[in-house]
Amino acid sequence: MARKIVRSSFFFEEDYKEQMAEVPEGKLQPWPDNNQLRYIGKEITRIDGYEKVSGSAVYTMDKMISRMTYAKTLRCPHPHARIQAIDTGEALGLDGVLAIHTYENTPEIEWYGNSYLYDPHLRYEGDEVACVVAETEAIAEEALDLIRVEYEELPFVINGEEAMQEDAPKIHDSGNVIRGEPSQYSRGDVEKGFEDANAVVEGSYYAQVEIHNPTEPHCSVVNWEGEKLTVWDSTQGVYSVRDGVAGALNMPTSKLRVIKEYMGGGFGSKLWEGKYTVMAALLAREIGRPVKIVVDRRGMHLAMGNRPDSQMTIRIGAKEDGTLTAIDYHSVGAAGAYSSGTGTGWPSVTMFKCPNVRTEEYSVFINAGPGRPFRAPGRPQGHFSLDSAMDELAEELGMDPLELRRKNFTDKDQVSGNPYTSNLLLDAYAQGAEAIGWDRRNDPAGSGSGRYRRGIGMASQIWGGGGGPPAYAYLKLNRDGSAKVIAGTQDIGTGTYTFMAQIVAEVLEIPMDDIEVILGDTGVAPYCGGSGGSTTAASVSPAVRDAAEQMMQKLASGAAATLNIPEDQLQYADGVFTDRNDDTRTRTVSDIVGEMHEQVLTTTGARGENPDKYAINSFGAQFAEVEVDTLTGRIRVVKVVAAHDIGRVLNKTTLLNQMHGGIIQGLGYALMEERIMDRNTGKVLTDNLEKYKMPTVMDVPEIEVIIVSDGDSQISNTGVKGVGEPATIPTAPAIANAVYNALGVRIRSLPFTPDKVLDALYS
Ligand code: MOS
Repeated sequence: MARKIVRSSFFFEEDYKEQMAEVPEGKLQPWPDNNQLRYIGKEITRIDGYEKVSGSAVYTMDKMISRMTYAKTLRCPHPHARIQAIDTGEALGLDGVLAIHTYENTPEIEWYGNSYLYDPHLRYEGDEVACVVAETEAIAEEALDLIRVEYEELPFVINGEEAMQEDAPKIHDSGNVIRGEPSQYSRGDVEKGFEDANAVVEGSYYAQVEIHNPTEPHCSVVNWEGEKLTVWDSTQGVYSVRDGVAGALNMPTSKLRVIKEYMGGGFGSKLWEGKYTVMAALLAREIGRPVKIVVDRRGMHLAMGNRPDSQMTIRIGAKEDGTLTAIDYHSVGAAGAYSSGTGTGWPSVTMFKCPNVRTEEYSVFINAGPGRPFRAPGRPQGHFSLDSAMDELAEELGMDPLELRRKNFTDKDQVSGNPYTSNLLLDAYAQGAEAIGWDRRNDPAGSGSGRYRRGIGMASQIWGGGGGPPAYAYLKLNRDGSAKVIAGTQDIGTGTYTFMAQIVAEVLEIPMDDIEVILGDTGVAPYCGGSGGSTTAASVSPAVRDAAEQMMQKLASGAAATLNIPEDQLQYADGVFTDRNDDTRTRTVSDIVGEMHEQVLTTTGARGENPDKYAINSFGAQFAEVEVDTLTGRIRVVKVVAAHDIGRVLNKTTLLNQMHGGIIQGLGYALMEERIMDRNTGKVLTDNLEKYKMPTVMDVPEIEVIIVSDGDSQISNTGVKGVGEPATIPTAPAIANAVYNALGVRIRSLPFTPDKVLDALYS
């Protein structure tokens, strides 16, 4: 298929991202539904599963190179301080210490415009003060204690609304409100909308700071060979790390290779290069040896990103029949000490049909670790306020809360007015409601009795995730008929290796065992975007299919040539071409490649363009049943039903992995996870996994997953929309509404810890 270059844009994390891309000119036939496919959509275990469970998989942390050295970071103990003096003499004298970098002896590298790599102005507890490299990790650790730093402690602010006050300590010279003004959106006439309403509800909601806590810590191994730098990194984006590190070090990308092998999660905290990688690269260059840097769990809690908090006020008006007339939304989000998006209003703007909507959202600097994208940035917060308020509105109107959502279903994108390529939300509502037994809920809320009260609630979800170009894949055939597929994407634990092999197996009809998958290496693999925004499978799978289909065409012409018959006289099944007129005459894939001697058959596949004038979104609803112990205030989630339209499922097993993970993460957000800071000292109290509570297997409810969609043929040749983020968005709001249904009192602040439950019940 001929190629062309286009300007293309699609939704990635918090925004539309516009890029140039080479795309196929034509379109492949869409695949039929999964029940007519052999590998796609089936329960297929991960091709890298054995390596992972046996411990033989080499993660970045396990990477060993001869002459390896180890780096450790000294972090600021204060929420806001300026370094007056720093003395590294004693630390440098320690046997085995090789070098120490501070702001005094390191080139001034600008770090995202806000600060320098080592900045004497320290803006949060955990900000980087110095980095030591030594022969062993233990020596580096010991050396940190020997660095003498004199800090001038500065006044600090750790609350977003307080940071907006005139007299608040300034974290950056530009002021604490990022860009100096709120982000705003509006359509229609909100005041008029409220005038037209028969019922209006208003509420203030708070969603807390959540820490990513991927299982695998942030880490890099860096190695210079002359001018060339290789970085092994635990990252969601090898190409973004390549560009970011090259930019920071002011070196050509051709001299930088980034490799990500196995990876234990990122959730958005590993989308871009970390400071630690650049710090390690500078030390490695100085000492002429490879450096390994692993961020410890405390460093991850303080400095590797978080889901920013959000103080939200939402006002919704509706007609008597439930038709929405206006939504007014206001939020303040604490970005931490460096710039990051904190908007949470998108659900209110896009989820329901509503002619009059206004949002005003402030992102504010505070003296705390910087926010980063976190699994559906802004959405769990924004749906907590929106879906709670929708429930309050339903009660005000005397309506079934699910019926209120159905009533305001939209088949058009509320911002652009474009229709969706597909939207099966109504099916998700219906099937989810049936699976949870929606009729069993308390009506009215809180009408149960006894110590343990059960309740059922639900929430909905909208996300992007359709992906788009650019994304490319190479496919090569070996002489024995086996294949190798190579793409510059990465498997962050979601199953990318496996679906790439499935697609090649589906098209070429060769066993999955004969397919080698190479990804996560800028040195060999063609460009793909970062694994974020639930776009990986949606962007990469069509490129892999395109490469495989092109290969089929090459093989067909090769078979025709070796059999000396026209192509249309061939039939193909399970890796074997047969002459229709004489079924004794056959050629296998390896026969064809073999006859071509040392030539290697290769193709390059590309992700096609998204359709014009359509919106691409995933949709879903989750339903939760909870049991609240009214004596202790503990909430047990009994069951979660997740019903989603996410386009085609590529692999049922890894789909369930992602759904379960997202729901468990959402449960943690609903009930226990929270960064707690001491208002007197400005320090983080929850800087380890003992104090920062995460769900364990004891907290996991029964989970039922219902996928109401098959391939969306309008968006790509595989029709995938993506599931990673949709899985977690509605969980906490559904649990919150279930708790209301159990108790009849509303809690407006996450997480729903026992003290808040008791407070709501008895005060
Ligand atoms: Mo993004 S928060 O890594 O999907």
